[in-house]
Amino acid sequence: MASSIQDLALSDYQRSVADYWRVHTTDPVNEELGKVDGLYHHHYGIGTPDPAVARAPWAIRDQEIIKELHRLETAQADLLLDQFGQIEPTDRLFDGGCGRGGTSIMAHARFGCEVDGMTISEVQADFANKQAVDRGIDGHVRFHLHDMLHTGFDDGSVRGVWTNETTMYVDLFDLYREFARILRPGGRYVNITGCYNDVLGDKSAAVRTIDAHYLCDVHARSTYFKALAANGLVPVKVVDLTPLTIPYWELRLQSSVRSGIEQPFLSSYRDTSFQYLMIVADRI
Ligand SMILES: C[S@@+](CC[C@H](N)C(=O)[O-])C[C@H]1O[C@@H](n2cnc3c(N)ncnc32)[C@H](O)[C@@H]1O
Repeated sequence: MASSIQDLALSDYQRSVADYWRVHTTDPVNEELGKVDGLYHHHYGIGTPDPAVARAPWAIRDQEIIKELHRLETAQADLLLDQFGQIEPTDRLFDGGCGRGGTSIMAHARFGCEVDGMTISEVQADFANKQAVDRGIDGHVRFHLHDMLHTGFDDGSVRGVWTNETTMYVDLFDLYREFARILRPGGRYVNITGCYNDVLGDKSAAVRTIDAHYLCDVHARSTYFKALAANGLVPVKVVDLTPLTIPYWELRLQSSVRSGIEQPFLSSYRDTSFQYLMIVADRI
């Protein structure tokens, strides 16, 4: 695995994504939420906010909102991990596009298993590995500075793979070809992602704003299922999480850590041009 971004054979686009995360990894919305309990997420939340937060005294209200946003982001990762069912300590899971490792650390805490995470951001890989060392789990949880389209793992060597809001940075057919190769037969893939609702046609203006904000390329909903089917990954569950994530965005809009992208998310979720989807698929 690479020890520096210069060692990676990345496209110009991937280099710009890596550069984006070098600059934005410590944005307040990620940093302040991470400080709540030391788990750092770079994804969104689901669930119902505690109404007491809205009634909190002004002096502590913002901090209460931040704690609540973090709780909802952790709930999202818990829902993702629920989909794997029973995982043994000897099993190996792969976190494609691991960010600063929050979901991987939760996976190891839950299952006691081996976890490998991959990111093309040097700052994220270094941060996540330090987290693993500080927690004394670095013998089991490893973060690699590497392109998840070419993991270098052996065929059939992992029991489960997840992508938590990372698939909008890559070609889905290339990604699922690689995941199908490294997953053992019967292994499970879990994905949480935003996608555009191509039942309504092309991307809405709000979804194009989201693309531009994150330097990503949100895929059509149908592309996920075409790419999964083309690679022997058979969906067993599909859940539209959109109604569960809208309250998170409404709460985030009221916080000091809002980033300016809240309105495009809310408007596109409400007009259904954008959807927050969880897809669970098994490798045949
Ligand atoms: C929105 S963040 C999500 C991070 C993490 N999954 C989480 O839930 O906190 C997107 C992540 O995708 C990673 N990424 C994008 N393209 C990648 C690639 N080709 N290989 C590995 N990671 C990639 C970025 O480096 C970043 O860590």
